Amino acid sequence: MRPKSRPASAPGPGTARGPACVVLAGGLGTRMKSGTPKVLHPVCGRPMIAYALEAALALKPAVTVIVTGAGTHERIESALAPYKGKAKILFAIQEKPLGTGHALLTAVKELGTGFGGSVIVLNGDFPLIRPATLKKLFRLHAKDKNALSLGSFLTDAPGSYGRVRRDLDGAPVRIVEKTDLSAGDEEIKEVNSGLYALEPEALKLLGRIKRNPRKNEYYITDILALARRAGLRAGAYAIATGEEFAGVNDLRELGVAEAVMRGRLIAAHSEKGARFLAPETAFVDYGVKVAPGAVVHPNVHLQGATTVGKGCIIYPNARIIDSVIKEGAVILDSSLIESSEVGKNAQVGPFAHLRPGSRINPFAKIGNFVEIKNSTIGKGTKAMHLSYIGDARVGRSVNIGAGTITCNYDGARKMRTVIEDGCFIGSDSQLVAPVTVKKGSYVAAGTTVTNDVPGGSLAISRVRQKNVKGYVRKKRKV
Ligand code: UD1
Ligand code: CA
Repeated sequence: MRPKSRPASAPGPGTARGPACVVLAGGLGTRMKSGTPKVLHPVCGRPMIAYALEAALALKPAVTVIVTGAGTHERIESALAPYKGKAKILFAIQEKPLGTGHALLTAVKELGTGFGGSVIVLNGDFPLIRPATLKKLFRLHAKDKNALSLGSFLTDAPGSYGRVRRDLDGAPVRIVEKTDLSAGDEEIKEVNSGLYALEPEALKLLGRIKRNPRKNEYYITDILALARRAGLRAGAYAIATGEEFAGVNDLRELGVAEAVMRGRLIAAHSEKGARFLAPETAFVDYGVKVAPGAVVHPNVHLQGATTVGKGCIIYPNARIIDSVIKEGAVILDSSLIESSEVGKNAQVGPFAHLRPGSRINPFAKIGNFVEIKNSTIGKGTKAMHLSYIGDARVGRSVNIGAGTITCNYDGARKMRTVIEDGCFIGSDSQLVAPVTVKKGSYVAAGTTVTNDVPGGSLAISRVRQKNVKGYVRKKRKV
């Protein structure tokens, strides 16, 4: 007998309100051997769970419930704070990690009796999942009028995945976890992905799941056998590759997922016209924007909320974090740029360090071994060698000589230095903040500037040079 479909009255897939989504993230993740909750481990700069959550949100769910553990709840909730304003997201705390079935039950309780629609469930640990795949499962689930559907994939290496056992008609009857395999199950090449769609009549069976005797946990996967026994219609659909459905349980698998995601991101940038000279050595976080015509040399790291503009060239070994590199700017070798902006056609490096809050205006040049922190550097200004500029405002067309230092810290407070347009700061000068060098002034090499310099003047503070004639000859005679 074919299992019957769900009653027509059930508010199944296709309800105007959209389904509810549940993301399971309450497990201990002990296989990661790490103090960080498993689902918060980043893949290309973004926590694993964010990928599952965004895939879920693509379904436009009426509500999304994230199941967390008692010990991980706060960290997961704060990591997902940016999503809270974008959709209705609830958190359900699973006090004890009693298994995936128990986790879903915890979520269903959070949903409350008021919700009577379809529920899409995803493990929180498969970062390579594509939103289109979720949509596909939900579509098939609705089309076949199933009470329960699951995404599966075919593999020659089923490893620790649950095997999808089918009956002679090809209908899925049971998921068998690795520890519970019977004779014949070893042959099964179809495995469970951790993505499910359930109707209320299937959800009702959750309470009937018994603890798995080996692991002492309630398995969500047991719902398939229970649904079949209750005469409900169920489907398993091999809708994606093992790569996309790969669950991350340990750091080795995390490394594999990271490599796949990195490849996907760089391929997407390249298709839009960014050139990566050695794509296999480029590290580009999820969410980084690289404009067409930009060229990225080997071993470059682009992290966080970074944007690289049209025609920029990023030379080898640069690391750019949360920064905006505008059109035509060039970042020379081995430079570190953090939370800063590099203006159009400006140049930074080699071996330069822009610390947070630096703004380099167009056509400015920041050269070898120069460190800038929380400072604005005006248009066309140059600081080419061995300088520290902190808490400063430097105007346009200023020349900062080699070895110039802003002394911005008195041991207790940070103070500002202002260097106005057109100034020339001679080499090896110190500017003791707070201090202002007014427009068009010169500071002589080796000067320690402690007082403001009026516009158009020369500041010089050094001991006059004395040449002692014949000194060397006399000294050698002694
Ligand atoms: C699970 C499936 C397996 C499937 C595989 C796909 C079960 C019993 N097995 O195995 O059939 O092939 O995923 O990757 O479900 N979690 C909780 N609370 C818990 C336990 C787990 O929320 O008490 C969460 C975890 O945080 C994780 C997800 O559920 O995000 C899956 O748990 P995990 O332990 O990784 O299951 P697998 O052993 O991979
Ligand atoms: Ca897993």
